[in-house]
Amino acid sequence: MCGIVGYIGNKKAVPVLVNGLHCLEYRGYDSAGIAVLENNKIVVKKDKGRVANLDNMPGINDLEASIGIAHTRWATHGKPSMENSHPHMDNSNQFAVVHNGIIENYNELRAFLTEKGYHFLSQTDTEVIPNLIHYHYTKGVDCEDTFLGAIHAAVNDLKGSYALEVISNLFPDRVVVVRKDSPLVLGKGKEENYVASDIPAVLAYTKDFYLLEDNEYAVVYQDHVQFYDSNLVEHVKEVKVIEWDATAAEKNGYEDFMLKEIHEQPMAIRETIKNRLNLGEKCLFKDLAITKEYLQSLNKIYIVACGTAMHAGLVGKDAIEKLCKIPVEVDIASEFRYRDPIIDEKTLCIYISQSGETADTLAALKLAKRKGAKTLAVTNVIGSSITREADYTVYTYAGPEIAVASTKAYTSQVVLLTVLAVYFAELLGSYEEAKLEELKTEISGLPAKLETVLEEEKTLKDIAEKIYTEHDMYFLGRGSDYHVAMEGSLKVKEISYIHSEAYASGELKHGTIALIENGITVIGVLTNPELTPKSISNIQEVVSRGAKTLVVTNQDLANVSFDYVVRIPETNSLISPILSVVPLQLLAYYISKTKGLDVDKPRNLAKSVTVE
Ligand code: M6R
Repeated sequence: MCGIVGYIGNKKAVPVLVNGLHCLEYRGYDSAGIAVLENNKIVVKKDKGRVANLDNMPGINDLEASIGIAHTRWATHGKPSMENSHPHMDNSNQFAVVHNGIIENYNELRAFLTEKGYHFLSQTDTEVIPNLIHYHYTKGVDCEDTFLGAIHAAVNDLKGSYALEVISNLFPDRVVVVRKDSPLVLGKGKEENYVASDIPAVLAYTKDFYLLEDNEYAVVYQDHVQFYDSNLVEHVKEVKVIEWDATAAEKNGYEDFMLKEIHEQPMAIRETIKNRLNLGEKCLFKDLAITKEYLQSLNKIYIVACGTAMHAGLVGKDAIEKLCKIPVEVDIASEFRYRDPIIDEKTLCIYISQSGETADTLAALKLAKRKGAKTLAVTNVIGSSITREADYTVYTYAGPEIAVASTKAYTSQVVLLTVLAVYFAELLGSYEEAKLEELKTEISGLPAKLETVLEEEKTLKDIAEKIYTEHDMYFLGRGSDYHVAMEGSLKVKEISYIHSEAYASGELKHGTIALIENGITVIGVLTNPELTPKSISNIQEVVSRGAKTLVVTNQDLANVSFDYVVRIPETNSLISPILSVVPLQLLAYYISKTKGLDVDKPRNLAKSVTVE
């Protein structure tokens, strides 16, 4: 939800800022803007619409400034418009601010400032911040660095979440930043420093990063950075070297990030299981200090997440329950956090989040900690907020996921949860060793089988071109096939704007079958031989009512006739979702393409949902 970039150094700021925004556009794309210090004046260029509008905005490329801040917006307060675009300035035009997050008490602050004679040009919550800074600056602050002091005083007035960057023509040699519940990293260069909402945005320039903590301030100069805690006590911070490849966040010849990421799934799985799963040996999670005694003490595991990550949790539940014999409950983070769940020290709470920044997931984690449970984060982003809150972290190594629609993160999460379940089962001795070894062999074989599934791309493209004009679609499955159906349905909804629903196959005739009529598309996932006859009967029921059917299966269904069948390789049913979801991802992708939509940046969405 909103991306921010900052730069101070020895080169022109504008290209760095605009390139960074292009990388962060997945976080929001309602409007974009920059503010730079040019000849000791703040110059702002901004407009509604995509970051590309900045590329050749009149005058922007003539700006020589080497200090600036930038923003790409996902609108919360106020519709996308020039006035509501960031950066925002105070009434005296001395302070410019970009903000990611939400200021919950902005109405009160606005009333307070209005009474003091300030006026507002936008409907945003953010515009109170530069004016509050100006208010405290002119009133006077008890701090040697009056710029930092004024920002600190203003921040103390704020309720909500924020990652902020501030520049001022009164202090042309620095950018001041602070964060709370919204991500922010600093990239350290030679005679230059960078600020960004995430690492890939500036990874092309440096691999040395400072990961800012909640309530931490940084005053960023060209040649050094000073860090302060929430009381403005200065401290020293360690640099973290990020070994990602900068090109991992580029399209590498693919038309869209989503398609690239779908194709990266074999590699993502290989990386995620590497060093953790070795055949003939016990699984290994090096930094996970979980003991057999602790696992034995558990009476419940919760898996909590949002969207696709929650769908991965549903698949993970099956593996943990089957292999470890511990009851698992899966919940949506935004529900869990407000429903007073029964949790104590005998509960392990697992939180899944690709970004590690999802507001509801973080709040749900903090709740479990307060109730005395241990928390385990499953995330893809190194150093993300969730890793700093959780007792334990295990990473998926899927590489940066840029497309808003999650694909490789999902399959990596499912494989990681399965390996974790095997690891727990080995510690507990809760499942037959030979069977665990068989499962491990199947997991090791997944990347090769995924390559085979990806060969069905052309078939899925052809099917998509036949069904892309549909208004409704239904996805059916039983057991983990149902969980995959849920994920397939979400993919279709979010990138092709077709209404779709997922149903447990047996549930359809308890109401929803009334909606099935001639020509409607029903997509069935059938990978569990024990459940296949039942699922086939359910699909026959919709065929008799005129539905067109697409079936994704790992079985020979020669005796039954469906309109389209996509065959995938067989594997253990605990991990079949990793294979069966891929045709659904490809289908959603090609429906969206055929409709001419922006696959990577679907309307109304953003990659990380850092607001409630
Ligand atoms: O970063 P997270 O995994 O916490 O994100 C959770 C959801 O917002 C995310 O999975 C969302 O549902 C995807 N856009 C779906 O493709």
